Amino acid sequence: MHYFQYKDKELFCEDVSIAEIAEKVGTPFYLYSHGTLVRHYHAFDRAFGTAPHIVCYSVKANSNIGVLKTFINEGSGLDIVSGGELYRALQAGAPPEKVVFSGVGKSNEEIEYAIKTGILMFNVESSQELRRINAAAERLGTMARVSIRVNPDVDPKTHPYISTGLKKNKFGIEADKAIGEYVYARDNLKNLDIIGIDTHIGSQITETAPFSDALKKTKGLVNKLRGEGINIEYLDVGGGLGITYDKEEPPYPSKYGKAIIAETKDMDVTLIFEPGRVIVGNAGILVSKVLYTKTASNKNFIIVDAAMNDLARPSLYGSYHAIWPVNKDKTGEITADVVGPVCESGDFFAKDRELPLFSSGDLIAVMSVGAYGFAMSSNYNSRCRAAEVMVLRDKWEVIRRRESFEDIIRGESMPDFIEEAK
Ligand code: LLP
Repeated sequence: MHYFQYKDKELFCEDVSIAEIAEKVGTPFYLYSHGTLVRHYHAFDRAFGTAPHIVCYSVKANSNIGVLKTFINEGSGLDIVSGGELYRALQAGAPPEKVVFSGVGKSNEEIEYAIKTGILMFNVESSQELRRINAAAERLGTMARVSIRVNPDVDPKTHPYISTGLKKNKFGIEADKAIGEYVYARDNLKNLDIIGIDTHIGSQITETAPFSDALKKTKGLVNKLRGEGINIEYLDVGGGLGITYDKEEPPYPSKYGKAIIAETKDMDVTLIFEPGRVIVGNAGILVSKVLYTKTASNKNFIIVDAAMNDLARPSLYGSYHAIWPVNKDKTGEITADVVGPVCESGDFFAKDRELPLFSSGDLIAVMSVGAYGFAMSSNYNSRCRAAEVMVLRDKWEVIRRRESFEDIIRGESMPDFIEEAK
């Protein structure tokens, strides 16, 4: 349930006319509904009732500091995967004791930055990383809290690029090797405080079974670890709950919550969750303007002013995003591809889609792009990245200004030796 709705024939975000924002901000722009963000956050948080848990919103899904601040104000922690995300988290005022650091390739600098910040824990993905974090903590004369990300080898039945919990994926430490790593760390890595276990299995998962299967395996490991005298206080379930883009029917957070609690209720752990998409996915849209329409031999094209550099998901994963007219005043329909100005045939938002008979100047809304939309955008084709706007009831504000041409070449230079070599 989101707050992008038609009033008469005009699309609104909460109480604000989207056409009016477009008039003032120009196109393309990302638009987020604060009411939807907050509603989704609480629907997720409530799903675990009184079970001890921390929701650590996954920054990678949408990392605008206005969005982060929205969740921090509601009590959220954050899941980060880079020094840059830690910087954003701190700028937005995140409590470090609710920050978890995941990812397979943390650098020395990132590790030291996070230790100095006092984050809750690192989710460690390899035996070399365990040693590296221990060495960093030793250099800093302190302890680092860690959990090991265990790869449970379950199939999350999602797009291969975003499934992470299979043995063939690069993530985590194989379940049968994990105990050895824990024991080694306990006996030899004296600057580590081992407090948890983690199992993120993938993204856009639309059933509860893969989560339950992963937790069953993890539970067995936790019992063995406790048998070794290693106290596991935190069980990080990761993120991954899917949303409806088209016809998917993912479980509601309440059903997901029940499934998780059923597997973990007697485990005496604090649960950690790293949801991204399920909270922000349907809380954001991309507003773009039709530049041209054209017809090739047997194909219609609608060329809009947003492109694959603004929203990469359709090109990268072949993913579906609904396309709504901002004004429903059209009569007639057309079957067309919706494409952007980038010089690649992979630059499309929809293929052979039945759409209103759009014409030049019309505004379209690409739906369900709050997660992995702006966050994955780029300057490809030297296109300025889009503005981001947030609405709260009848108020709205630009939370990231549109980039300028100066922004595009910021940091670049023309070395003197080029002239000398002429
Ligand atoms: N935790 C970890 C360790 C992750 O790797 C991810 C996502 C999450 C949490 C959040 O997952 P979520 O709740 O959003 O499913 N760009 C792709 C999705 C990549 C997901 C990467 N990891 C897409 O646009 O579908």
